[in-house]
Amino acid sequence: MENEINLDKIDINAESPTEEPARQYYFMAKCREWVFEFERKNGRRPCFFTQTFGCQMNARDSEKLVAVLSGIGMVETDSEDADFVLYNTCTVRENANLRVYGRLGQLGVKKKKNPGMLIALCGCMMQEKEVVDKLKRSYPFVDLIFGTHNIFQLAELLYLRLSGKKPVIEVWDGTDKIVENLPSERKYPFKSGVNIMFGCNNFCSYCIVPYVRGRERSRQPEEIIREVERLAADGVVEIMLLGQNVNSYGKTLMHPISFAELLTQVEKVEGIKRIRFMTSHPKDLSDELIAVMKASKKICPHLHLPLQSGSSRILKAMNRKYTKEQYIALAKKIKQAIPEISLTTDIIVGFPGETEEDFLETMDVVGMVGFDSAFTFIYSKRTGTPAAVMENQVPEDVVKERFDRLLKKVQETGAKVSGRQVHTVQEVLVEEVNDHDDRMMTGRLGNNTVVHFPGTKELIGKIVRVSLDEFKGFYYLGNLAEQKKNR
Ligand code: SAH
Ligand code: SF4
Ligand code: F3S
Repeated sequence: MENEINLDKIDINAESPTEEPARQYYFMAKCREWVFEFERKNGRRPCFFTQTFGCQMNARDSEKLVAVLSGIGMVETDSEDADFVLYNTCTVRENANLRVYGRLGQLGVKKKKNPGMLIALCGCMMQEKEVVDKLKRSYPFVDLIFGTHNIFQLAELLYLRLSGKKPVIEVWDGTDKIVENLPSERKYPFKSGVNIMFGCNNFCSYCIVPYVRGRERSRQPEEIIREVERLAADGVVEIMLLGQNVNSYGKTLMHPISFAELLTQVEKVEGIKRIRFMTSHPKDLSDELIAVMKASKKICPHLHLPLQSGSSRILKAMNRKYTKEQYIALAKKIKQAIPEISLTTDIIVGFPGETEEDFLETMDVVGMVGFDSAFTFIYSKRTGTPAAVMENQVPEDVVKERFDRLLKKVQETGAKVSGRQVHTVQEVLVEEVNDHDDRMMTGRLGNNTVVHFPGTKELIGKIVRVSLDEFKGFYYLGNLAEQKKNR
């Protein structure tokens, strides 16, 4: 665990500290007493299950939640037949919410059979008042609800729930603070996400993220570097710097620093071999960043650059602050500077008022830029966002038909461009044993393309040279090549 603190040294009979993170460590120690008590009664430790919905930022948050639960001595399990079940939710599209409600219904049935089970919900959905109201009304068996701004309070809120009988609901509207030095655990020993900022100030008109994640806050560069150094010392070779819009990192700090400068500092950390980041907003992508990427040996040649729409008219209505032409010019500039780069994107189909002509503009950009891959989304109306009350919502059947056409185009262009390294030897970070065939290993190229090759699990976490023998549409099949010394 990162930031390990000895809970034995904490006096749980003393007053609770007011400072963070000391306060949370104090409540962890208190919760641990409950775990011991549970073990004495039941002859086993309580077990917990967590499920994460949504983006990489939620995934990183969940690692912190898991660290708290493991830190107090609970045992992680992969089944929902657990003593404590925690969902870290997403609300970016309606589907995400529906999935949570569906799963909660099933959990309710389990809880009837096992009334001692505790159910907790946190994350972006909880920042919506209507959601919490609905949960109180229709899912009263939920024990603990907290939001994105007070996610660091898990230990304290869990203790509150354990020491009472009533559900605990604590959702902050916002915060200007960033609590550092909480425990954190990693899903993979060799790679990790690192938050560099929280929240978003862009208010794209379709998007709920700024409402549920609050205003943009950047972490101090020193804190980020310290975390990266700790990760490197712990054997991590790949890090992904995370933020909703990393290109505006550092602008609001007391001593402003650019994202490109931050990257230059991260690059210096010994032991880190690959640096990725997510997500870049095209409007803030600087020439300085392109230059730093080009010069870097560690920054991966991959850029996720959400397009959202190829129509300048729709982009304006989306409040994206760039035009079709500007996006294309930017993509061109990046490819010229870094020819091996892989560009990926997000596209929304069926934004209010989108006409067939607008849609064809999107298709046009996809053809011109040649994305390695793209996430395509059907526009989802999010209550409270400006787009939700726009006229001309596009009928479902029209959207579906456009979506299918776009998906086909994206897959075709992806298959054409992303196989360009076939018959070359490239470095692959080996990530896991192949899901379908345990004689095969699965890893990624710097540009994020997946590679499968025969190997053994001792290679996991290592960077090896693989000859890319065959391209299969969106992944390579390969074989270990001759390795360079000193890796
Ligand atoms: N901060 C990132 C994206 C975060 S949300 C960025 O600005 O690029 C991830 C993706 O979800 C977005 O890029 C967008 O394509 C999609 N998305 C967001 N809100 C949506 C909505 N209301 N309907 C459909 N897709 C949406
Ligand atoms: Fe949402 Fe736009 Fe912020 Fe991305 S930049 S999180 S799409 S508001
Ligand atoms: Fe979803 Fe929240 Fe991420 S709404 S996409 S989990 S920031």
